Amino acid sequence: MRKCIAASGPAGLSRAFQNISIHIPISFLVFALSFTGCSTVPEEGPAADQPYELALPAHFPRPVLPEDNPMTAAGVELGRRLFYDPILSADSSLACASCHLPERAFADGRPVAVGIQGRRGRRNAQSLANAAYQYKGLFWDGRSATLEEQALIPVEDPNEMGHDWGAVEQALRRHPSYPARFAAAFGINDTARITRQLAARALAQFERTLISAESKYDRVKRGEATFTELEERGQHIFFDTSEELPEGECGHCHTPPLFTDQTFMNNGLDEAEELNAFQDKGRGEATGQYYDNGRFRVPSLRNAALTAPYMHDGRFGTLEEVVEHYNQGGRHSLNVDPKIRKLHLSDTDKQALVAFIKTLTDSTFVNNPEHRNPF
Ligand code: HEC
Ligand code: HEC
Repeated sequence: MRKCIAASGPAGLSRAFQNISIHIPISFLVFALSFTGCSTVPEEGPAADQPYELALPAHFPRPVLPEDNPMTAAGVELGRRLFYDPILSADSSLACASCHLPERAFADGRPVAVGIQGRRGRRNAQSLANAAYQYKGLFWDGRSATLEEQALIPVEDPNEMGHDWGAVEQALRRHPSYPARFAAAFGINDTARITRQLAARALAQFERTLISAESKYDRVKRGEATFTELEERGQHIFFDTSEELPEGECGHCHTPPLFTDQTFMNNGLDEAEELNAFQDKGRGEATGQYYDNGRFRVPSLRNAALTAPYMHDGRFGTLEEVVEHYNQGGRHSLNVDPKIRKLHLSDTDKQALVAFIKTLTDSTFVNNPEHRNPF
């Protein structure tokens, strides 16, 4: 739709439309579009394949899926192949899965990501578990609005896959099996219509299947398992639910069921005299707002036991170090959240918090063969 507006209207108008479209109902947009002479029919034919049904336990929310990229079995399978295929990188050495490993809940175990030819990025690779629910922006700074938009970025990031989408499109069009898979997924009948946008849609469809909702914590919530005494104590500290135990404040930001409220916060990692002093400005880089400097998206703690090292720059190697960071009350700066304060936890309290976080490990999820390398 956007392409259509951009082609028909003056640039200023199209920019205005893009801004407006975030705030106004779709029905109005469709109405407005009818005046620009553009059709709202998608460029591609209907998906040739049957709809893909997300497997979700009853206690878990259903993700809101985009209307312009319905999930199909062929689309998800194509996305899975692209995700595991080094064809997306300049020297065919890296796939998405090189930095998002299924056995690590789709993180990579490194402090910061390492791209082609050993190039080091500046941030820790994020877990992709439950990415379907990240509605408030992807990446640590939330700069990418949708999974479709995000999937275009790593391929051309010089510190990641260092490739060029034009070359990837050529390789996919010439490939012995991708043309038939694109045809099945998107109803196209001409290899020239294999585009980066369709590849990104397929990747997004696969990523939306990466739902983690079968941890011990989930089984306890469903009445199918019970916490140990230590885990129970950790849960109380995490959610501030006991009169006798100290309050950890964790659950205010790491809110269930996703264990993130998806806000951007400063949890006191670095001292800064003024907010331009942060080495990585995080959210501030995306919004240009001074008070967003040093804020990062609250990460989900689901599978955190598998996603070490921690924080946007991978500075902490263990959950124990993370808990000690919070226990000491963090470092001062203007926008550090007031819930970051000295916690006065005993050694047992700290162990209890770690034990509780470990109940969020979902081995069903990390061992799911449908998420694994199809090659
Ligand atoms: C070289 C390692 C590397 C490769 C290859 C890579 N990623 Fe990532 N990925 C990262 C890092 C690092 C981040 C966080 C970057 C940031 O916040 O600026 C990230 C973030 C993401 C996110 C955001 C998750 C969230 O919760 O916001 C998604 C989605 C994602 N990657 C998908 C992909 C896909 C799809 C591919 C392949 C097309 C891919 N990645 C290739 C390292 C990598
Ligand atoms: C004010 C909101 C807030 C509170 C309260 C909070 N956190 Fe966090 N947490 C964050 C943010 C933001 C990050 C990411 C910071 C960064 O990387 O710059 C984070 C990161 C983490 C991580 C690292 C996850 C990863 O994938 O890298 C863990 C583990 C964690 N928090 C556990 C806790 C525990 C345990 C508590 C309670 C003692 C707690 N948090 C309290 C906001 C909060």
